[in-house]
Amino acid sequence: MDTFMESYHFCVLHKDSICNIFYHNLGTFDPAGDHFRLVFARHSIEELRDLPKTQWNILPHIVSIYILFPNVVLVWQLDHVELWQIFPGNDPVNETIMQVSLYTPEECCSEKSKQHWDKNLELVLHVTENEDFPVGEGTQKGFYTGAQKNITFGLNEPALAKFHSTITDKLNESRE
Ligand SMILES: [Fe+2]
Repeated sequence: MDTFMESYHFCVLHKDSICNIFYHNLGTFDPAGDHFRLVFARHSIEELRDLPKTQWNILPHIVSIYILFPNVVLVWQLDHVELWQIFPGNDPVNETIMQVSLYTPEECCSEKSKQHWDKNLELVLHVTENEDFPVGEGTQKGFYTGAQKNITFGLNEPALAKFHSTITDKLNESRE
């Protein structure tokens, strides 16, 4: 879940793909109970500077990420929605099963649009499976060494702080 909650890794992990599309050091964070929304801007948002605010349509220039606590991520992208669902695996501590679905505005489809959506899905799977998740696995291995007892979140990662403090709160509540 953590990999969806900040953008400053874009130009480190995704320097040949997402880094070229999004600002990696700006974003919004709007909590709603245990859930929250993050919005990251595409570089194309600069086009709006020359327009009066009444004509601004920001949707083509952002990605909007809804974190539905504890295990669902809904990503609003230009012309479709991605739904990520994460479940415990057979070994609930060390294994998770992730299901990703891509929802398109029209029922699929002609050969041309199928190619378009397949390409979108391939890109998102390529980036996450080859760039995000290997780092997550490495980080988890690092935790198991016991070298570090605490994780400190910075002020530039409020979503991570919120998500993990909510998990801690829920676990503490369940033990009471
Ligand atoms: Fe990433």
